[in-house]
Formats: sequence, C-alpha cells, structure tokens
Amino acid sequence: MITTSPIFFSIFFCLIFLLQLTTSTDTLSPNQSLIDGQILTSEGQRFHLGFFSPNNSNLKRYLGIWYKTTPDVIVWVANSRTPLQDSSGTLTFTKNGTLILENATHGVLWASSKPSHELESPILKLLDTGNLIIQEKTTTYDDSVTTTTSFPWQSFDYPGNTRLPGMLLGENTETGKEIQITSWISPDDPSPGDFTYKIDQLGLSQLTISNGTRKRFRTGPFNGICFNGLLMVGNQTFRILTDVDRIRVRYITDPYNASSINRLVLAQNGTIQRYVLDQKTNEWKHSFTIPGNVCDIYGQCGKNGICNPEQEPICKCFDGTKPVSDQEWVSSDWSKGCRRDVSEDCGNVETFVKISGAKLPDLLRFEMKKNMNLSECQEKCLRNCSCTAYANPYVNSADTGCLMWFGDLVDVRKYPEENNEQSFYARVPISKQGNFSVSGKNNKKKVLITIAISVVGLLTTMMICGCIVVKIKKIRGQKSKKEDLELPLFEFSTIVAATKNFSSANMIGEGGFGAVYKGELSKKQEVAVKRLSKHSGQGIEEFKNEVNLIAKLQHRNLVRLLGCCIQGEERILIYEYMENNCLDHFIFGPSKKQLLPWPKRFDIIMGIARGLLYLHQDSRLKIIHRDLKTSNILLDSNLIPKISDFGLARTFDLDQASAKTKRVVGTYGYMAPEYAIDGKFSIKSDVFSMGVLILEIVAGKKNRSFSHPDHHHNLAGHAWLLWNDERDMELMDGNMKDSYVEKQVRRCIQVGLLCVQKLVDDRPEMSSVLFMLSNEEAKLEEPKEPGFFVERSSFHDEEKIHIFGSEEYMTKDTMTITDMDTR
Ligand SMILES: *[C@@H]1O[C@H](CO)[C@@H](O)[C@H](O)[C@H]1NC(C)=O
Ligand SMILES: *[C@@H]1O[C@H](CO)[C@@H](O)[C@H](O)[C@H]1NC(C)=O
Ligand SMILES: *[C@@H]1O[C@H](CO)[C@@H](O)[C@H](O)[C@H]1NC(C)=O
Ligand SMILES: *[C@@H]1O[C@H](CO)[C@@H](O)[C@H](O)[C@H]1NC(C)=O
Ligand SMILES: *[C@@H]1O[C@H](CO)[C@@H](O)[C@H](O)[C@H]1NC(C)=O
Ligand SMILES: *[C@@H]1O[C@H](CO)[C@@H](O)[C@H](O)[C@H]1NC(C)=O
Ligand SMILES: *[C@@H]1O[C@H](CO)[C@@H](O)[C@H](O)[C@H]1NC(C)=O
Ligand SMILES: *[C@@H]1O[C@H](CO)[C@@H](O)[C@H](O)[C@H]1NC(C)=O
Ligand SMILES: *[C@@H]1O[C@H](CO)[C@@H](O)[C@H](O)[C@H]1NC(C)=O
Ligand SMILES: *[C@@H]1O[C@H](CO)[C@@H](O)[C@H](O)[C@H]1NC(C)=O
Ligand SMILES: *[C@@H]1O[C@H](CO)[C@@H](O)[C@H](O)[C@H]1NC(C)=O
Repeated sequence: MITTSPIFFSIFFCLIFLLQLTTSTDTLSPNQSLIDGQILTSEGQRFHLGFFSPNNSNLKRYLGIWYKTTPDVIVWVANSRTPLQDSSGTLTFTKNGTLILENATHGVLWASSKPSHELESPILKLLDTGNLIIQEKTTTYDDSVTTTTSFPWQSFDYPGNTRLPGMLLGENTETGKEIQITSWISPDDPSPGDFTYKIDQLGLSQLTISNGTRKRFRTGPFNGICFNGLLMVGNQTFRILTDVDRIRVRYITDPYNASSINRLVLAQNGTIQRYVLDQKTNEWKHSFTIPGNVCDIYGQCGKNGICNPEQEPICKCFDGTKPVSDQEWVSSDWSKGCRRDVSEDCGNVETFVKISGAKLPDLLRFEMKKNMNLSECQEKCLRNCSCTAYANPYVNSADTGCLMWFGDLVDVRKYPEENNEQSFYARVPISKQGNFSVSGKNNKKKVLITIAISVVGLLTTMMICGCIVVKIKKIRGQKSKKEDLELPLFEFSTIVAATKNFSSANMIGEGGFGAVYKGELSKKQEVAVKRLSKHSGQGIEEFKNEVNLIAKLQHRNLVRLLGCCIQGEERILIYEYMENNCLDHFIFGPSKKQLLPWPKRFDIIMGIARGLLYLHQDSRLKIIHRDLKTSNILLDSNLIPKISDFGLARTFDLDQASAKTKRVVGTYGYMAPEYAIDGKFSIKSDVFSMGVLILEIVAGKKNRSFSHPDHHHNLAGHAWLLWNDERDMELMDGNMKDSYVEKQVRRCIQVGLLCVQKLVDDRPEMSSVLFMLSNEEAKLEEPKEPGFFVERSSFHDEEKIHIFGSEEYMTKDTMTITDMDTR
C-alpha cells in the first residue's frame, strides 16, 4: 500500500490537472471530477456544490449543496452516512451518468443511483433551485419548472432534512420513488436522525412527523382541497397532486419562485422550521414552526380527549367518556386519556353530536366508503356499536364520502370555527347529551334536537341529520366561493401510460372535440381520457378557466370531470369512466335492447332531462350543449344516465338568449333546423335534440337512418304521422311489450313531438319538459309539424341530402375548443 501510494497519487493529480475546472461553472461533463476545494455554482449564483464540514468544527468532510451567500446553511448532503476524514475526496462524474465520491485509499464512499434511463451523453448540472441533476446534454430544461419529476437523476429525490421549493414530498410519479424528509442527528452530523416528515398513506393521506412508528404530529386527512388541520400552521401555499379519487395525495410541492428564497427544515428535535431569506440583509428570518401549538402535539390529551388551546384546562374528555385516571387528569397529566362507558343497547340509546372546526381523529381503525352520503354514513355508524364517529372527509359539497372511526378517537383538536369548517360526528349516549361541552356554539339548537330525539327515537335522528347536512352545505357553499376550485393536474406521462400511449385498442369514442380513450391509472382506477384536438391555439390560462368552469358543473346526470393535463399543445380532460358506455349501444344494439325494459328507459329519459335542465337553468352559467345525442349519454353501473361533452361547446351569459355561429358543431339527425341551416342555436335547439332522444329511446331506432316502406320521413316525421292517425303506440320498440306503461309511453311520445316542433317558439323549455313528463295530470298541447318534415327523396340539393345521410358532420374549424370563447 505504502509503496504504491505515491505512484497512484501522481497519476491521480495528473488526471485532475488535465480535467481541472478552470472557471466556476454549473456543469460537469463525463470523466470530469471535482476535488475538495473546488465548487460548482448554479447559473444564477444562488447555490454552491462542494465539500464542507458542518459548523467548521471538525474535520469530517461531506459533499453537499449550500446557499452561496450563507454557506453555513446546507440544503443537501451526498455522503451523510459516510463522511471523509480529510480533504482527499474526489467527486467523479462517470461516462455512464453516475456520480462517484471516492478517495485514493478508501475507494468509493458514496455513489448515486443509476439514472432512470440510459443516457447517451449525460451532463451534471447544479440548478438555481438547488437541485443537482443528471440529464441528457442536448435536452434543454427550464429552471423555472416548479415540479421536477422528470430528470433521469436529481438530488431532489434524495433529500436530507431540508425541503426546498420545487422539491416533491410524496411520490415522484416519474420514478415511483417515495420521497420524505429526515432529520439530522445533530447540527454537526447530517446522518439520518430519529424523525421523518412524509405523506402517510393509510387509506387516506395525511402529512406526519414521526419518530419511527411514533407520530409526533399529523395534519389530519386530505379533504379534497387541503389537509384537514393544516390551515393552522402557516400561510404556506403548496401544490397538491392527487389520484383521481382525490383521496390519495401523490405529492405536495411548494411552487418555485425565483424571487423568494425559503426553506423548510426538519430539526433534530422533530419540529419543522420554515425560514425565509431577507435578501436585503442576507439574514434568514424564522417564519413558522410545526407543531406550532400545544394542541398540535400528537395525542396531547390521550385517547378520547379533545384539545382546545383556548380553554382551561386544554384537555376535555369526549361526551360519554371519562378520565381513565381522575387524579392524573386533574393534575394536567392527560396521557392516559379517557375511557368510553360501555352502553348495553348502543343503537337505541345513543346518537351523534357534531364537532365542528376540528382536526379529524387519527386514522387508526377506520373505514372509508366513497359513495355513501352523510345520512347513510350516520345510519351505518349508528348500527355498529364499535363505530365511534363518522364524517364526510371532503369539504366540497358535491363530494360524497363516509369516513367511520372504530374504537378510541385520538388526536382531536379544536380550531376557532372560522378557520376550519370541517366537522365530524361523535357518538354519544343520549343520557349524556346535556354536556355539549366540545361542540362550541349553537348549544341551544342542539339541546332542542336532543329533546326531539329522546322522544321520537331513531326516525327523528335521521331527520335531524338532514338538518345538519343542510347547514353544512350552506357553510360549504360559502367556502367554495372563497376558494379557487383546483382540479388535479395530471402529468402527461401518467396519461400516456394509462392509455397505452393512446392506443387504438383503448379508444372508446370520438366526438366533436377529440378522441376518448379508456385509461387505467391503476388496477382499480379506470378513467375516460378526452384528448382534445390540437391547434386550438388556446392559452393555458384560458384553458384552465374553462376547465374550472366545467368542473363546477356538478350534477348526478352529468359526467364528472376529475382532472386535466396540459403539456405543450396537449389539452386533456380526465373524466370518470362509465362501465356501461353509451346509451346508443343499448337502445340500438340488437343484443342489448332487452336489457332496457320500459321503466329503465323512462328513468333514463328523466335523468337526461334533469341533467339538461341543470345545464340550462340551474347551473350558474347557462350552458347550451349543442351536441346532445345518444352517444353522448353515458350509463353508469346502475344505468343512471350521465350527459358528457357538456360545456365544451359554448358557455353563455345568462341574459344571452341565442346566438349565431358560422361554425356548426353537432350531429345531423339531432340538430334543430334553425341550427343546422342558419347556425342559430339556443336552449331550444337543445330541446329539439332532447325530443329526438326521447323518440329514439321509445322507438329503439335512430332518427337519421330511419326507413319505412310507406314514406321517406325520418323517425320524428314517422312519429308525427302515427300521432295524427292515433296510432302512436306503434312507434314503441317491440322489446318493451312486456314492460311498458301505456300512459307513460304516450306521454313521452307527445312530449318528444312537442320538443321537435319546427318553430323555435313552439318548443317547450326544459323545465316544462320535465314537468310534463313527470305529471300525469299535466295538460299537454297538441304537437305541430316537426322540424325537417320533408320527405328525403324530394330533396334535390345534394348538400341537404347529406344532412340526413351523413353519420356525423363537422367542419374542421369546429374541432377545437376555442369555440367556447367565441361569444
Ligand atoms: C472517459 O475516460 C475513459 C477512460 O479513462 C475513455 O475511454 C473515455 O473515452 C472518456 N470519455 C469521455 C467522454 O471523455
Ligand atoms: C458551532 O461552532 C461554534 C463555535 O465553533 C460553537 O459555539 C457552536 O456550539 C457550534 N454549533 C453547533 C450546533 O454545534
Ligand atoms: C480516504 O478516506 C479514508 C476515510 O475517510 C481515510 O481514512 C483515508 O486517509 C483517506 N485516504 C487518503 C489518501 O486521504
Ligand atoms: C458506471 O461507471 C462506473 C465507473 O466508470 C462503473 O464502476 C459502473 O459499473 C458503471 N455502471 C454501469 C451500470 O455501467
Ligand atoms: C425516538 O424514539 C426512540 C424510541 O422510541 C427514543 O429512544 C428516542 O428518544 C426518540 N427520539 C427523540 C428525539 O425523541
Ligand atoms: C400569514 O398571512 C398574514 C396576512 O396575509 C400575515 O399577516 C402573516 O404574517 C402570515 N403568516 C405567516 C406565518 O407567514
Ligand atoms: C414570487 O415572490 C414574490 C416575492 O415574495 C412575490 O411578490 C410574487 O408575487 C411571487 N410570484 C409568484 C408567481 O407567486
Ligand atoms: C427545536 O429545534 C429548533 C431548531 O433547532 C428550535 O428553534 C426549537 O426551539 C426547538 N424546539 C423545541 C421544542 O425544542
Ligand atoms: C343519501 O343517499 C340516499 C340513498 O342513495 C338517499 O336516499 C338520500 O336522499 C341521500 N341523502 C342526501 C342528504 O343526499
Ligand atoms: C363493526 O365494524 C367493524 C369494523 O368494520 C367490524 O369489524 C365489526 O364486525 C362490525 N360489527 C358489527 C356488529 O357489525
Ligand atoms: C356531564 O354529565 C355528567 C352526568 O350527567 C355530569 O356529572 C357532568 O357534570 C356533566 N359535565 C359537564 C361539564 O356538564
């Protein structure tokens, strides 16, 4: 060893001499090295990469990244577990795209993992975000990218105790790597300490700080918008990427903002400290601490205790429980918590009390039912004696969901109500209801409710629950006004993977605005992916506004938008997937027709009518669909109809009654005459399409391709002829002969005919359509001549024949969603 050493050293230094970095740079090329004393500097002069000793107090040397202007603030350490004992270290960037930290005698002390894919000509670069990346040399990247998931290797995937803006916490969706923050052992020793800060994925996502398996802090579960309870720990805004079900949070990240320098550190004592650099004085200002309040400390009041920092003492037992040890409790030792009285006939002598403005109990034993609403949830919880609480985990009024807790309730804290509107319902014995100690305001109301319950029993409980639900809805309504509804943004790569690169095998439809693919985000999560036609020229902000608008349209009979994806020219919408696909498969498919007996068909007609009424009247914006047809009606697993493609065509101001367009979008066979011919559309042109739909559903035949030996009219014309001969029942699909209700069928045909009347003013509005369909007593007018009541063979004009013959007709221009903005 001793003899070979000098020779080795001369080679070593020779090599260094050859490859030495002459000027300060932010990159290393393959075969280049960095020795102790040399540094890389990011382009904007914010960060340095090099060798350092913590606190300059000992000779241990580490490779790391620090702020150029405050070199004692280390943000990343490579060899945190394997320090060098002297300044003999060399960092080499190998030609296969990995980093190796070694010294002559000791060999490799640290090496980076392989890049996520093989690189032809790799390059190492220190970015101004503080991220050290390995990347193909020819690829250009944008320093301002706020979310960095796509580098083949990046130091941001291997954080120590510091989270920088742009860094992910959670899962790097590109590499699948789970990223968490780990405290240092001490300010002198960056090796991993006791505490981690991460996204805990126990069914529902929460942010936690823990020492091993022992939690020290948690935020409360994700509630569709933010983490329940995080509101209280500072104004930090961050981006959240969730799965489509909006239960699981993939990652959170602080947006990178070049003009604000800040960092989040998980200190060795398990607290998170946030600091912001005052760029004038070059001093770090402390911004906030988590846990920031005595009640933020995990399980401060023990099990079944509730913590409220604004009362004295801070801990109370939930109603129906009492301190395990009275003596310890009164001397402010709450660690043993409270014990639940076991009640013998739990379902009958217990009820729930609303606890509002609280951090939801920890998810120790719980069940989540995504499709249950709050009243069903209460009922289910009440029936199971070990169910101790329930809640809707979401704050969006449109989201149903039932979260139930079993056994002890742990780590509940109360917030001032104006700061946290989320509530849950805790089980209490009816006999204990006088003590609404934890439920804050509205005591009077609740006492009244209580009396009602004890008198009338279970039935009343459910009604009261209804009252509470209404109240919550009101609160939520206010909330959603305040908050900018943010839909989850999906990575393009996720969509590519989910649709097998938009393979034709996955294509399930093609409409006016683009193709629709079935996508699989995971084994259990199927979605419908609408890839909007390109060349729209629409800006990102414009698109986001439109998407936000569509997302706000929520109705049982509208397909729900789950998220979107924007990348370059790509504009993609992600919808819930409907396993029964579209209505036309059912009513026109010979094998499936039998699956739709009359009562189902009637329900479907009513559902579509409700959905359309919502678009026309009940949503805040008057939406004209413009392309209502059977293939745009999707059926869920219960055959509940959902209108799709709404909102894409054009949104209307409420006072705008009709408009004219040169670009006709729609499908012949469903288009009203004034729209097909003059491009004039209004809610009444949607009513026309609705009429065609009703007649098609009753007849099981298509309007446009209808043929009859006696005449050349379309289905609507045929229906009118039958109507005038009082033979209207002959229109009915023969498959319904065992199931039809004659009165209803007749009524549907008549309403259908009223809807397809030629003159706009003769057609009813959707509200009366719905009224006429559902009220047997309603007096119906006699329908007049339908639109396009002209025998097709009499047409000589080829273009007009085309109207009836073509499957679908669209001008090129209309295949874009810019159309939405042409007012
Ligand atoms: C790196 O060094 C190896 C041997 O030391 C040499 O074969 C290779 O060509 C070099 N590569 C580059 C990109 O300089
Ligand atoms: C850092 O070094 C200074 C002086 O060398 C010492 O007073 C201080 O306690 C050290 N800090 C830590 C956290 O070790
Ligand atoms: C290499 O590093 C080891 C461990 O840090 C150290 O003991 C050794 O002295 C170093 N070798 C040289 C030549 O500096
Ligand atoms: C990458 O290069 C280093 C040094 O050149 C070598 O030790 C390592 O095995 C290589 N890794 C792969 C995956 O080729
Ligand atoms: C972390 O937990 C371990 C074992 O439970 C304990 O010994 C240690 O003191 C804890 N660390 C801190 C900093 O509380
Ligand atoms: C939060 O924002 C308010 C006003 O917007 C400000 O006064 C306060 O200092 C901020 N708090 C933190 C911790 O940044
Ligand atoms: C970036 O930070 C600066 C200073 O805090 C602020 O004024 C600016 O609005 C921020 N920009 C964005 C896009 O958030
Ligand atoms: C934890 O450590 C941070 C940073 O060192 C310090 O500011 C804070 O006061 C400590 N908190 C406790 C409770 O020890
Ligand atoms: C909850 O769902 C049930 C069954 O689907 C329904 O009857 C009830 O009206 C719903 N309640 C609310 C408040 O939406
Ligand atoms: C109550 O719910 C728990 C958890 O789901 C379950 O294990 C238990 O069997 C249920 N008990 C009854 C009586 O349904
Ligand atoms: C709650 O009720 C129990 C029994 O009814 C009673 O002993 C206790 O004093 C009450 N607690 C409060 C805070 O009113």
